[in-house]
Amino acid sequence: MAPDQPYVVAHTAVSVEGSTVGFHPDVSRFYELAATWAEDATLTGADTILTQEPALEAAPGPGPLTEGPLLAVVDGRGRVSRWDGLRDAGRWSGVLALHSRATPPRPADRNVPELVAGDERVDLAAVLATLREDHGVETVRVDSGGQLTGALLHAGLLDEVSLLVHPCLAGADGDRFWYGTAPPPGGGLYQLANEALGDGLVWLRYLVKR
Ligand SMILES: NC(=O)c1ccc[n+]([C@@H]2O[C@H](COP(=O)([O-])OP(=O)(O)OC[C@H]3O[C@@H](n4cnc5c(N)ncnc54)[C@H](OP(=O)(O)O)[C@@H]3O)[C@@H](O)[C@H]2O)c1
Repeated sequence: MAPDQPYVVAHTAVSVEGSTVGFHPDVSRFYELAATWAEDATLTGADTILTQEPALEAAPGPGPLTEGPLLAVVDGRGRVSRWDGLRDAGRWSGVLALHSRATPPRPADRNVPELVAGDERVDLAAVLATLREDHGVETVRVDSGGQLTGALLHAGLLDEVSLLVHPCLAGADGDRFWYGTAPPPGGGLYQLANEALGDGLVWLRYLVKR
């Protein structure tokens, strides 16, 4: 962990071939394990949030969870719109929109704090440093279908990989992998845990060697 960065863990539900989509994850077990890190901030990407927007719209939440983590959403292209729904979902204490200087202009009446970092894309290193310095964030849990996790891996910003492996193959429906679309950077990993959880689920945890 770099001195100015929080501890960053990507916890992901995968099929045996490492796909993050194309199968039915055990959502309750996934979130039960996610509580392991008691993160100060959840870092996610626009594509992950966009898949949740219809549900947010259909079921208004109870409001912010005061003691919950901060939700920080990488939205370099300004595609996310349901900021109020996210804030009120009852899972986070607040929401922070992460943009770059190339992000299209936002509506003037938009009601969400934002952090602008980076020219063309959101500068993930700068975001993590600001989360630590300005928001007191020590631990970040990444919730990603792979693109964001891959970007963090390539930038040397990921400390831990946590995979909840499901006993299935996603096959042709598995078009996203936990490390993104490009091959991950090669290198060794330190194993932290290897646990059979029953029902064919296996939990693997690795520290990423820097
Ligand atoms: N199995 C699981 O545990 C799990 C967890 C979460 C989501 N999912 C599923 O995965 C799918 C979405 O995953 P995804 O991999 O497509 O998207 P994602 O993880 O949400 O990542 C996309 C985000 O990463 C940003 N990004 C990518 N590369 C970057 C870089 N180099 N620098 C800065 N930002 C970068 C993108 O920026 P821009 O905004 O600039 O495009 C975008 O906001 C959905 O189907 C969702 O349901 C599965």
